[in-house]
This record gives sequence, C-alpha cells and structure tokens, in this order.
Amino acid sequence: MTQKPYYRDIWCLGAGTGYPGAFPRGLVEKVLQRWNGEKKLMLFSGSFHEKGWETVDIKPENNPTYVLNAEQLPKDWTEKYDLVFADPPYSEQEAKSLYDLPYFNIVKVVNEMARVTRAGGHMIFLHRLIPQNFPGDTSHFKRMKLSGIVGVFTIAGYSNIRALTVWRKMEVLP
Ligand SMILES: C[S@@+](CC[C@H](N)C(=O)[O-])C[C@H]1O[C@@H](n2cnc3c(N)ncnc32)[C@H](O)[C@@H]1O
Repeated sequence: MTQKPYYRDIWCLGAGTGYPGAFPRGLVEKVLQRWNGEKKLMLFSGSFHEKGWETVDIKPENNPTYVLNAEQLPKDWTEKYDLVFADPPYSEQEAKSLYDLPYFNIVKVVNEMARVTRAGGHMIFLHRLIPQNFPGDTSHFKRMKLSGIVGVFTIAGYSNIRALTVWRKMEVLP
C-alpha cells in the first residue's frame, strides 16, 4: 500500500526542566504551531501544567486535572478532545526506575487516545515506537490517518532520539 505524503522532520531542542522524562524545552510550543485544537488533553502529564490543557497522570502528587490510568479513560470522553498528546515512559525499566510504576499497555493507551479524539482532531504520541496496525485496533484507531513523524532529540548527555507520531482522525473508516 502506498502511504500519502506526511510531514517529516527532525527537531533538536533544549534539555528538559528537571522532572524525570520531562519534555525538551520548546517541544509543545513547536507542536502547537503545526497541530493545535481548542480542547486539549495531555496524558502522562508529569510536571506539565499549561493553560488551555486538561491533564491526566496516575500520580496524584503531579497535580493533574484527573488522576487516572491512561489505559482506561472515562466512557463519556468519547470524541471529546481536538488534540490528545501522550508522553509515556519508554520502557519497563524506565517506568520502574523513574516512576516506580508498571509499564503501561501501549495497545490500550493508543486505542483510548483514538477514542477520545474528535473527528478532524489530532492525536500525538511521543515514544521510541511508532504504533501502526496492531491486532486489537479499535474502529476509532482505524480512523486515524498518519499526518506526521518527527524525530526529537536534545543536545545533552546521551540523549534518546524519540519519535513524535501524529495522526488526524477521519470522519469515517477509510
Ligand atoms: C515521561 S513522564 C512525562 C513527563 C512530562 N511530559 C513532563 O514534561 O513532565 C511519564 C509520566 O507518566 C506517568 N504514568 C506512568 N504510567 C501511567 C499510566 N498508566 N497512566 C497515567 N500516567 C502514567 C508517570 O507518573 C509520569 O509522570
């Protein structure tokens, strides 16, 4: 199958703020210049608190808008958000050593992100993996059309290179 062209780039950004696994400086601003929306949801929010965003983290001490496991979002959030962003831990070892948490289930999270994204809205996933075509994809995830892949790294120590994968939700199944 030939994939229609999608945005591709590599962004080098400033180091994060100090919270383990924090966003590189300037990342969210750069994302919003290209993919924005009125109602915005940040999953795995950690130290991220910005006006105009609702946030979800499993740890109450991070003071998110909602203390929830991102694997199972509320049923009445279906098609509620224009922009849904997730910055989860990148491995089982990181989840344990940085947050003392079990590693999340990627299939469950990606499907939940797709469910709570509105038709015409965008979903953005920052990880070393680029999720595509899981067995178990829901009809919501099947409506997601790839609209960008951006490599992200910082000039600091031994920086991870990660991928920001962006999809737009179609009105109906292709
Ligand atoms: C990579 S950090 C996010 C950092 C954030 N981008 C920032 O700039 O501070 C991952 C976060 O995911 C949270 N987390 C881990 N597993 C989770 C889960 N299943 N559901 C919700 N939050 C989870 C952790 O508490 C941690 O704050």
